[in-house]
Amino acid sequence: MTDSQRAGYQSVPDDLGGKAGRGWWDANASEYLDDHGAFLGDTDFCWCPEGLRESELHVLGPEADLAGRAVLEIGSGAAQCARWLVQRGARVVATDVSAGMLAASRRLDARSGTQVPIAQADARALPFASGSFDAAFTSYGALPFVPDAAAVHDEVYRVLRPGGRWAFSVTHPVRWAFPDDPTARGLTATRSYFDRRPYVERDEHGTITYAEYHRTLGDHVREVSSAGFVLMDVIEPEWPGTTTETWGGWSRTRGERLPGTAIFVADKPAAHR
Ligand SMILES: C[S@@+](CC[C@H](N)C(=O)[O-])C[C@H]1O[C@@H](n2cnc3c(N)ncnc32)[C@H](O)[C@@H]1O
Repeated sequence: MTDSQRAGYQSVPDDLGGKAGRGWWDANASEYLDDHGAFLGDTDFCWCPEGLRESELHVLGPEADLAGRAVLEIGSGAAQCARWLVQRGARVVATDVSAGMLAASRRLDARSGTQVPIAQADARALPFASGSFDAAFTSYGALPFVPDAAAVHDEVYRVLRPGGRWAFSVTHPVRWAFPDDPTARGLTATRSYFDRRPYVERDEHGTITYAEYHRTLGDHVREVSSAGFVLMDVIEPEWPGTTTETWGGWSRTRGERLPGTAIFVADKPAAHR
């Protein structure tokens, strides 16, 4: 198998690509948290590698109003964000498809002394009754790893009450055209922004072990509004003044010139009288 067959942008059957996420996150949970756990914090709500926190952004509402609110996290990983919400009195459930990431969440519960209720669930089939949550969110979870993000938006719409909020952060779509490289090499567009083929990795047998999907800005907006949401905002965090920390392809070199994250904020319309 050549290097480009082993890792690169490839058309793959949706069912195989969509399934790969779970295995990859199970296998890599510990390594991922070794690399990024300190940046994320055990009980902190970080939206992106730019380091923007919910304590500054308040997209789920004023911090003082979080107590008692029913909040769902999808693609929660080790549920650091949910833990921050628990500490503010919210009634949170953190969900993730990966048992490995949820096991890591239990370890962070023990270490931090703050417990988060968790449930293993694919974000495309949520095990909750319709209208059960006031808000739902994910920080870089689930959506990039499924070919059918529309199914996630539909499920989130279903489990939110009328008037509920849905917020999610993803890699900024513009980044797809650039090499995932934190150095100046990552500042020259080398691919088409419009190429929707996922980035895929395979093992030595050719089995897909990782798949990450691209959506253009228009694709995201279309999927959110087709589910029934009203889009309220798209936040593009700027690189913070002094930060030199690198996270994969995110760095000061690139962050000063290119957006790295998009945070979508949408509302389920309130019920009509
Ligand atoms: C980059 S992590 C985001 C989690 C956390 N916010 C963080 O920054 O570590 C991506 C998470 O999405 C989860 N995920 C991938 N596909 C999913 C799916 N179909 N349904 C639910 N979660 C999924 C992975 O298991 C992983 O925990």
